[in-house]
Amino acid sequence: MKNEYDNEKFFEEYGKMPRSRDGLSAAGEWHRLKPLFPSLREKTVLDLGCGYGWHCAFAAKQGAAGVLGLDSSIKMIEEAKKRNAGKQIEYRVCEIEEYEYPECMWDCVVSNLALHYIEDIEKIFQMVHRTLKPKGVFLFNMEHPVFTAGVGQDWIYTEAGEPQYWPVDRYFIPGERNTRFLGCSVVKQHHTLTQILMGLLNNGFALEAVVEAEPPEEMMDVPGMKDELRRPMMLLVKAIKK
Ligand SMILES: C[S@@+](CC[C@H](N)C(=O)[O-])C[C@H]1O[C@@H](n2cnc3c(N)ncnc32)[C@H](O)[C@@H]1O
Repeated sequence: MKNEYDNEKFFEEYGKMPRSRDGLSAAGEWHRLKPLFPSLREKTVLDLGCGYGWHCAFAAKQGAAGVLGLDSSIKMIEEAKKRNAGKQIEYRVCEIEEYEYPECMWDCVVSNLALHYIEDIEKIFQMVHRTLKPKGVFLFNMEHPVFTAGVGQDWIYTEAGEPQYWPVDRYFIPGERNTRFLGCSVVKQHHTLTQILMGLLNNGFALEAVVEAEPPEEMMDVPGMKDELRRPMMLLVKAIKK
């Protein structure tokens, strides 16, 4: 399957984002995601769509016994191995849809900003449920359905070029959205809130937290960040295997 993160230009632009340069402290959602992590001491952690491996390194630093980061982009995995290596961490080029999800293997499955690339998200929920140990934690952050629904995933602008409002359209039609991100065409997948939350509840999870994360006050000077207060972009969910 084509992964835009292996496109030279896109990969280069992604590398210029604050979160790519400075890691988790520069990610607008981190102040809300971090407190949702369970204790990872001596635990096993699977990261779906690990990118540069920031969350794998975090897990290792928290004392995790073993961490596996999966990503379908060869370039992202190369970068993870360079930036966030650790003796407890393994990185593997693998699609989220293709991983074998061994039964009762992991204490915690984490996924940050990758699940909106997955078409059949319910199938992944089933696989994650299978691979978690009893009472295991599934913690993810994906693009919010209000953000993904619209056709081009962009503001409607005033004549002066100011963002006027965010269009929410075709909300109840899940599936492919062709978007522009970092100057490239990127295909993402829209899922409704019902699909996401009921998909978890119908597949053996209990919900422990749902957070529509706003960036912190101290990041308001970062270009574009103020826009994040006008409509939700990040949907954080903590689910527990029943
Ligand atoms: C926005 S980045 C987030 C990376 C990392 N989780 C983070 O928060 O820093 C999205 C990542 O998902 C990966 N990805 C997209 N679709 C994927 C798929 N089907 N299987 C595995 N990885 C995928 C991309 O290659 C990219 O590294």
